[in-house]
Amino acid sequence: MSQLDQLIVEQIQIGPMQNFAYLIGDKATREVVVIDPAWDIEGLLNFVDERDYILKGALVTHYHPDHCGGSFGHNVVEGVAALLERHALPIYANEHEVAGVQKVTGVSKTDLKSVSSGDKLTVGDIDIEFLHTPGHTPGSQCFRVKHTLISGDTLFIDGCGRVDLPGSNSEDMFNSLRKLAELPDETILLPGHNYSAVAHATMGDTKRTNAYMRINNLESWKMMMGG
Ligand SMILES: [Fe+2]
Repeated sequence: MSQLDQLIVEQIQIGPMQNFAYLIGDKATREVVVIDPAWDIEGLLNFVDERDYILKGALVTHYHPDHCGGSFGHNVVEGVAALLERHALPIYANEHEVAGVQKVTGVSKTDLKSVSSGDKLTVGDIDIEFLHTPGHTPGSQCFRVKHTLISGDTLFIDGCGRVDLPGSNSEDMFNSLRKLAELPDETILLPGHNYSAVAHATMGDTKRTNAYMRINNLESWKMMMGG
């Protein structure tokens, strides 16, 4: 899938939990970053090689193992640690998520680049803006690239990320979704999981049809979420 002339946007479904990894970059220079590399690092790197892309870094939406690798229950998911064994690349995580990513993946602090909301990363000629959207985890972040939003587990087309997990905060999620509701209607929402009938949607449609996006006051949110 590509949207604008210069922008590379590759949406790759990966692993048994319907995760989406993404490659975002510049068609002119073929430089890309990978978002949420997990489950099959070899497969992702082959995808990069087959298209003659040049991988410049990895961006992590949040510290859950299905997005960045690590273990949960009896499952071990490969992720940024396996990526670093193959390529010395910067791994970008929100300042409030760095410790969590370290703990879950086992990578060292020096492998991680801490970013704040509003920071920008330039890949080729493409600007990627980091948006801190806490709620699902304390340092969850979304990425805004031209008219797209890569939303991790903060916002799905028909829902939002769970807020009943360790580190979750329901009120933070409400505030993050209100912030995302301010994005232009033509923004293309690219979520962290393939949980809906379609793999992407406009923010305008999402605002109209997603029950979580339709709540605009905290009192109603708390009644719906039981918080
Ligand atoms: Fe998650």
